Amino acid sequence: MTSPRNIAPADGKLGVLVVGLGAVSTTLIAGVELAKRGMALPIGSLAQMGTIRLGKRTEDRSPLIRDFVPLAGLEDIVWGTWDVFPDDAYVAASRAGVLEQGKHIESISDVLRDVRPMKAAFERKYARNLDGEHVMVASGKRAMLEGIRADINKFRDENKVDRVVMIWCASTEIFIEPGKAHLDIESLEKAIDANDDTISPAMLYAYAAILEGVPFANGAPNLAVDAPALRQLATDRNVAISGKDFKTGQTLMKTVLAPMLKARMLGLSGWYSTNILGNRDGEVLDAPENFKTKEESKLGVLDTILEPSRNKELYGDIFHKVSINYYPPRGDNKEGWDNIDIFGWMGYPMQIKVNFLCRDSILAAPLALDLVLFSDLAQRAGLGGIQEWLSFYYKSPQVAPGLYPEHDLFIQLTKLKNTLRWMMGEDQITHLGREYYDEQ
Ligand SMILES: NC(=O)c1ccc[n+]([C@@H]2O[C@H](COP(=O)([O-])OP(=O)(O)OC[C@H]3O[C@@H](n4cnc5c(N)ncnc54)[C@H](O)[C@@H]3O)[C@@H](O)[C@H]2O)c1
Repeated sequence: MTSPRNIAPADGKLGVLVVGLGAVSTTLIAGVELAKRGMALPIGSLAQMGTIRLGKRTEDRSPLIRDFVPLAGLEDIVWGTWDVFPDDAYVAASRAGVLEQGKHIESISDVLRDVRPMKAAFERKYARNLDGEHVMVASGKRAMLEGIRADINKFRDENKVDRVVMIWCASTEIFIEPGKAHLDIESLEKAIDANDDTISPAMLYAYAAILEGVPFANGAPNLAVDAPALRQLATDRNVAISGKDFKTGQTLMKTVLAPMLKARMLGLSGWYSTNILGNRDGEVLDAPENFKTKEESKLGVLDTILEPSRNKELYGDIFHKVSINYYPPRGDNKEGWDNIDIFGWMGYPMQIKVNFLCRDSILAAPLALDLVLFSDLAQRAGLGGIQEWLSFYYKSPQVAPGLYPEHDLFIQLTKLKNTLRWMMGEDQITHLGREYYDEQ
């Protein structure tokens, strides 16, 4: 056993600032509020429903994760949010069409009505299919940055919260490649003053969060806290940051199936993934510049799992295609199809077909909750900078420069649980298992 880390207790209120009050955010808020009242279960949340094995298999010690590590209680969460539209969480949830109106919206309508968005730091050029007027009057990036910082502090004071976490659940912004403006804080500062186009609102929210000592998680694939300048700042100021883009539907499947192919040394010649999606997210992603951001994030996982350079005969020539089609009749109920062309012994071809009829926000909300609770835990445990153990939740996990990300879902899960054991001074589980035989 190692000695446990010194973790500050989760006393008092936890302020959760959600950027964007759309389908995912309202599903998250409603789900937590219903769970608090015993009216729904937080299914899909590892932090709330998962257990963790401690010690040997013979010890029979597997507490709930939330009983093992000192997490903030759901009853201590206070919500804050920004959006481009002025609708409160009741209207936004009704509009999003994810939840049953009577059972899951009307029953907590008073709480939802109280969650009203602050004016967004927004520019249409980063999400041109959005046309909302509920935006900061301040013009210019510097004024927006200061506006977000002022909002964070006002939220803190008015709600008397003890700690704050920020999570980006807003629309996917256009694709921006990390460039000169993002290299270091000096360049970033200059670019903000020059209203440089490569500084998007998401980066301003992330920058403001770090400056205010607030952990930041990014549910969308756009560049934000992964810009080198912000990564460095988060490390210097000991503020917890993690990856980007919730790993929910098709990519979740991909990071389970691809490791299986690799484990069995089965070859892959092509992976064709397509989706239909009809919510506002789908509408924003219908713009090619915004889809490009998502595409980069979705395409990245196969190469790192399959390592074509090390396994040329099996994975040296893969055709990988991902598309999302905006199709309004389906709303939030995304349907994804995967056609996977594989080959086995002596090269004989086979196929796998996956048809996932999922609910986008139902899959994303528990991930958002876990990221909020675990980012707060990391911060209280004095763990600043990149939290690689939270890779489990992301399509694009954040890692130290020079490292490749780990995409295999079950390696990610082991990493997460081992980090929790390490935090609490429990033995790592290596799965070696010799001790059960050596002792006989
Ligand atoms: N649901 C999933 O399975 C899933 C998976 C991975 C990533 N995501 C990402 O999560 C994000 C949220 O998804 P959603 O379905 O809730 O989308 P949504 O369109 O329903 O909600 C996004 C909200 O963000 C607001 N917004 C946009 N720019 C803003 C800004 N600068 N400041 C404040 N608010 C802003 C929009 O007005 C909108 O209300 C999207 O980027 C999506 O790509 C979702």
